Amino acid sequence: MTYLITGGAGFIGSHVAEQLLKRGERVVAIDNFNDYYDPAIKRGNAEGLASYSQLKMVEGDIRDLDLVERIFAENDISRVAHLAAMPGVRASVRQVRLYMDVNLTGSLNLLEASKGAGIEQFVLASTSSVYGKTRILPFVETDTADRPLAAYPASKRAAELLAHTYHNLVGMQVTVLRFFNVYGPAGRPDMMPWKLMDATQSGEQIKLFNGGDIHRDWTYIADTVRGVLAALDKPLGYEIINLGCGAPISLSDFVEIIEAYAGAAINKLAVPTPPSDPPITFCDNSKARDLLGFAPAVSIHDGLRRTWEWYAAYRGL
Ligand SMILES: NC(=O)c1ccc[n+]([C@@H]2O[C@H](COP(=O)([O-])OP(=O)(O)OC[C@H]3O[C@@H](n4cnc5c(N)ncnc54)[C@H](O)[C@@H]3O)[C@@H](O)[C@H]2O)c1
Repeated sequence: MTYLITGGAGFIGSHVAEQLLKRGERVVAIDNFNDYYDPAIKRGNAEGLASYSQLKMVEGDIRDLDLVERIFAENDISRVAHLAAMPGVRASVRQVRLYMDVNLTGSLNLLEASKGAGIEQFVLASTSSVYGKTRILPFVETDTADRPLAAYPASKRAAELLAHTYHNLVGMQVTVLRFFNVYGPAGRPDMMPWKLMDATQSGEQIKLFNGGDIHRDWTYIADTVRGVLAALDKPLGYEIINLGCGAPISLSDFVEIIEAYAGAAINKLAVPTPPSDPPITFCDNSKARDLLGFAPAVSIHDGLRRTWEWYAAYRGL
């Protein structure tokens, strides 16, 4: 079977591609290697996959509908994991048009081309940040999630809704996965784990929202990837499914764990939480457990230890 993975050179996309390739599937990946963070990291991810002969990596932009349609015409694609996006809540505040273009219009291109190709299953990456500052804890899929705090979650929620119209009108099988704070080896350098690990070496000051008294439901990459593969394997009609660990910890505790692995203190500065960011992310993952057999297996201590070990080797420490 042939899978299309958009954002295939990114953090989650490259790990999903690797697991599919390992089980012998054919994978077509598309990525535009943009500079939201150092593209050399994305090139490194792509190089890590290049040894698999069943991989085709296309360098291009999902906003280019002709290209997206050509990819479907030239490859016998059955299932799609649509992971390409402009990520990051705070960056989206200053680049609303870009985030809507890539995350909504880009998703529209993928949905249109998938409709034409009659694909069997479409998995759409969404985010826990669609829940905004909801008072319903833990976050549950029955929440309306209609009060996004910034363009990034608004673009993702809009794509979720758009995807539903394809299910309604042409019977497309769509599973929306709301990821929660994914971390692990070769993670994103704009996210806290990498920034904090860098800070243990550079001494750079790190801003802690609300003095570290915010909570995040960190989910280890291998757990997330298992959930994505389960979703690809099992068309369910149209479902929105939270994919998170279900065990939020405070930022202060998170920092302490990294300091302990690094054996170095981080220079911290307490700042107010910006209005774009929620005080907590907290996943009710019972639907993922029921429908996808999802069972997150990696604790935050174990996951951060593995991430630190990767980081230390990557930096040659
Ligand atoms: N990492 C997380 O904690 C997290 C949490 C919630 C949701 N998500 C979502 O999961 C998906 C993957 O995230 P990630 O953390 O791997 O981010 P990432 O930035 O590492 O991966 C996204 C990839 O998409 C590519 N891309 C961006 N715009 C593109 C375009 N116009 N055309 C082609 N490729 C393009 C990027 O170059 C990048 O390689 C995204 O949809 C993101 O919004 C991630």
